[in-house]
Amino acid sequence: MRELFTVDKKDYNPDGPVFRRPSARAIIERDGKVLVMHSRKYDYYKFPGGGIEQGETPEQALVREVREESGYIVKPETIEEYGSVLRRNIDDKNPDGIFEQQNYYYFCDIGEERVPIVQEDYEIEEAFEPVWVEFLTSLTRCNREAIRRGGGDAALIEREMRVFDMADEVLRKRRFEREEREAIEALALISTAPLNGRPLSGTDYLDMIEYVRSVLEPVQTEGEGGVGVHKLEFGYSRFEHSKRVLGWSKRLYDRTEDKTGLRYEDLMIATIFHDVGRSESARTGLMSHAAAGVPITREYLLAHGFPEDRTEYICGLVGAHSDKWRMTEPDIDRNLLMLMEADYLDDMGALGLVMDTLIVRARNEKATFYDCYNHFCRYTLPMQYDSPMVTPEGKFFWDEKTEIVQRFVDLIRRDISV
Ligand SMILES: [Fe+2]
Ligand SMILES: [Fe+2]
Repeated sequence: MRELFTVDKKDYNPDGPVFRRPSARAIIERDGKVLVMHSRKYDYYKFPGGGIEQGETPEQALVREVREESGYIVKPETIEEYGSVLRRNIDDKNPDGIFEQQNYYYFCDIGEERVPIVQEDYEIEEAFEPVWVEFLTSLTRCNREAIRRGGGDAALIEREMRVFDMADEVLRKRRFEREEREAIEALALISTAPLNGRPLSGTDYLDMIEYVRSVLEPVQTEGEGGVGVHKLEFGYSRFEHSKRVLGWSKRLYDRTEDKTGLRYEDLMIATIFHDVGRSESARTGLMSHAAAGVPITREYLLAHGFPEDRTEYICGLVGAHSDKWRMTEPDIDRNLLMLMEADYLDDMGALGLVMDTLIVRARNEKATFYDCYNHFCRYTLPMQYDSPMVTPEGKFFWDEKTEIVQRFVDLIRRDISV
């Protein structure tokens, strides 16, 4: 198991006998909350878990300890290694000896069933109770205070505090990725144009996304950067952009009441593929990224059983998505217009502020708050005010973004002032 960190008090005789007591600890998440044990006596938190007994595997100890302490039943098949923390200090039962504890942390899920809690003496004495919390990092302060006050096992309280921080980061990433996957799968809940008699499935959409990732991710390319914006200066990913634009296409579609002329699935597919030609056009320099995306999209769709006319329609959207001047043409295809608006909506608003901050910093390592404020006034706000939105739905989201940028710039102006 991967080692997270070591807590070595070095308060012992290094030649003394070593007493080992390994333990197993559980990181359990359910409905966005994490299970922890709260000591009512000393007011600190720890993960459920405890010592591994003679003849027990760490996994068996994990299931038993969680059941005894919290009453929840761990599903053994979901147990997944996270990392270990080694603790070494003077053995309080033998002043000549060393107490060594390898703490194994695991991610796992629990079932619906709940059994009565069976606590050990020290657990009763510390008045432990299971609680569900949203952010582990919110407990850091509590544990730090408990250490300051004294009482309880300071080394344990500190160790758990550090693992809270590390585990929270892992959980946050998992949550984000799970929600993203669910959102992509949910695209399949709407079907307006079945493919070969069946609606597209969540797996179909996930496969397209994976394909676009495989084309875009190996190379970070920014062949046609706009004036004044060089996104390559920080970790801008065209693939991540494509996913975000997909979110905007979906939001615009959902908000639009009159869906005449809209081809939901074709719009979603065109959005997924709209920038797939970025790597190709940057590598060859022969054509625009929109044009370069057409053959890539065509090949994928035909290989996946899309009829030729539908394939050509989707490719038409991909090939024309950069022709933003067409947005004001009265007879523009509604799907093309929606894709263009979605494409514009990304990189604006709150995200635009962060992006522009990164750009300022990338260009000048010593950039100050004033430099950021100045950039917001010169680029971010004017771009925000120069709205290219045509539809009421596009305008709605754009206005929302303008409001946050306007407010942010007002507040930062005050914050950097005397
Ligand atoms: Fe594009
Ligand atoms: Fe784009």
